[in-house]
Amino acid sequence: MPFLLLALLFAVFSPSPPAQALPALEKASVEASVDALLARMTLTEKIGQLNFPSLAFPPDEQLEQVRKGRIGAMLNVANRKHIDAFSEAARSSRLGIPLLFGIDAVYSFRTTFPPPIAWAATWRPKLAEAATEAIARETSAIGVNLTFAPMIDVSRDPRWGRVIEGAGEDAFLGAAFAAARVRGYRKGGLATAAKHFVGYGAPEGGRDYNGAQISVSELHDRYLPPFKAAIDAGTDTVMASFNTVNGVPVTANRPLINDLLKNAIGFRGIVMSDFAAISELINHGVAADLAEAARKAILAGIDLDMEGKAYDKNLEAEVAAGRVPVSAVDEAVRRILRVKFNLGLFDKSREPALAEIDEASVRKTAREVARESFVLLKNDAAALPIGTDTRAIALIGSAALSVNDHSWYGPAGYQKPETETLLAALRKRMKPGQQLRYAKGFADDCGRAFGDKDDALAAARRADLVILAVSEDCDVSGEGASRTDLGLSGAQQEMLEALVETGRPVALVVETGRPLTLGYAEKNAVAILIAWHPGTEGRTALAEVLTGEIAPSGKLPMTFPRSVGQIPIAYNPLPTSRPSTGNRYTTGYLDEDVTPLYPFGHGLSYTSFSYSNLAVSSPRMTPDASIEASVTLENTGTRAGSEVVQLYTRQLVASHSRPMRELKGFEKVSLAAGEKKTVRFRLAASDLAFHDDHGRAVVEPGPFKLFVGGSSTADLSAPFEITAK
Ligand code: GLC
Repeated sequence: MPFLLLALLFAVFSPSPPAQALPALEKASVEASVDALLARMTLTEKIGQLNFPSLAFPPDEQLEQVRKGRIGAMLNVANRKHIDAFSEAARSSRLGIPLLFGIDAVYSFRTTFPPPIAWAATWRPKLAEAATEAIARETSAIGVNLTFAPMIDVSRDPRWGRVIEGAGEDAFLGAAFAAARVRGYRKGGLATAAKHFVGYGAPEGGRDYNGAQISVSELHDRYLPPFKAAIDAGTDTVMASFNTVNGVPVTANRPLINDLLKNAIGFRGIVMSDFAAISELINHGVAADLAEAARKAILAGIDLDMEGKAYDKNLEAEVAAGRVPVSAVDEAVRRILRVKFNLGLFDKSREPALAEIDEASVRKTAREVARESFVLLKNDAAALPIGTDTRAIALIGSAALSVNDHSWYGPAGYQKPETETLLAALRKRMKPGQQLRYAKGFADDCGRAFGDKDDALAAARRADLVILAVSEDCDVSGEGASRTDLGLSGAQQEMLEALVETGRPVALVVETGRPLTLGYAEKNAVAILIAWHPGTEGRTALAEVLTGEIAPSGKLPMTFPRSVGQIPIAYNPLPTSRPSTGNRYTTGYLDEDVTPLYPFGHGLSYTSFSYSNLAVSSPRMTPDASIEASVTLENTGTRAGSEVVQLYTRQLVASHSRPMRELKGFEKVSLAAGEKKTVRFRLAASDLAFHDDHGRAVVEPGPFKLFVGGSSTADLSAPFEITAK
């Protein structure tokens, strides 16, 4: 269901201590408090705790329901006035159980950060942790105590618009960022919802909400690792996903929720449904009515009914009829109370802190993230950065004037922080004698239709360098934004071709929330810089990179395909019986190259790096041992830069066909020109386990290869093996 925008009336902040970091989910003392409170609750009050509606306007009826103990959490209450009113109503209820207040502060509340796919492109989980801590401080400052984040769905399908919220196609990278994002939100005072459990990023056809077919081994090797990492990092809640897995909706899937997530993985926090997903079990055709939907969801292990109104209206009768044991309700209430106690919500001293937000420090973090997220895909003849000897620069495109931050959450009605446009930021950085001429070229802010195209072409003809700033269409990010065509939208592709036709060098700057098909640009633009959706501080950061103040250092967290026909596409396919050689009778296409346009892990700098002296501490190890791989990285260029050193492995022979590469380590290293550094990775045999068809992790002896380099196509390799005990 689309997100309801809110009217947000920001109260005046009064100075007070910043939000406190949240305690770990495990506190033995909490269990006694939970037991004691649960024993005092009526069935009506218990079911009330499972009810999680979205704020209604006017809120009077909901306030009354809270006073009667019929609501346990509120969605989309994003202003202090309402939070105070609902908190007071909860205090006045018979048992005074506090409410959870949840919103989608995924990558923005006031200050908009680049989106999580851009955080992943930094390959620095610490940056994502800093980003989420800053976002959490802004959000918790008004009394919100839960964010529906991090979104940690692995996806190999850029047709699916929600890749913008995740960390891309790889489980290992995704797990690192999932843990970092949970840590950051919780340090900033927000409980987290690791979402969407599970397989939401693998919808057939890339179509949002569609079903996923996932084998047991793929589930464990590809989709579960980020959730396990988020749980290990202390996520307070997990949000179940809308989709089916192998034909069964997750929201009614006891094997996945109760048996796997709660029992096998051991998650002890809250499992919430997604928006109205319990009532949507009727649409799935697995429930004849809301009563059956409520029954199936609670028996599957869904504790909190977000906006479904299913539990509130049906559970009491289902219990009375003996179709739902009261123990199932108790287990759900127990988890909700456990999280509320752990968050300190019963502790009066933790009244939501109305904190003075230091916007400058939040913006500083946002600028840092943006700077390191940009990915330089192509840079012929060092076209970028703009050299001081480049006299005439033509900047073209609506995106150069854009302040659109594509943040799909945004409490409407409040003033977003000031954002500098790329045009303004670039103008400030022109050197004496340099002339920047801007021509919008389009009639609208989203590049949908030409405006004064001739003016843009005239500016290009007089330029030493043309910079075309393009953007994914203004409304195609996030939920419900699947696309079948990933080319530049509107008239932007036509503009690119017209500018190339002038014969002047064209550098393309792309604001996007997903990989796009940029085949024409790869052949005809002199440079391509992926800026993601850079957010409040991002266009300033972009100007810093375009003018060379900052060197780009991002690497792709998702493969950029040549065409949509290649999707799903990723760096780590299985080899097949006939690995691609270009011969017709090997895996590939008649009408398209089988390789991606730009591979996972790819990204250039303004300097160059070399890799040498790859060594392994031992050519073999037993299943309980580990080896060390080391490599010398050298900055062979003329300026400082950062490189993400990546370690991949391949198991050459096993009981299952194994991916041709698997990311097993990465480290971002900054070096001055001419500087060298030895980078080391510890690789345990257990890191090389995979899951069999029963979901069991197995480490199989046999021959392996490891690869080290600056992308998933790294060819510096060394053999090693795992020997039997
Ligand atoms: C949406 C999204 C989910 C979000 C929830 C509440 O439909 O799927 O990610 O957190 O509803 O807004």
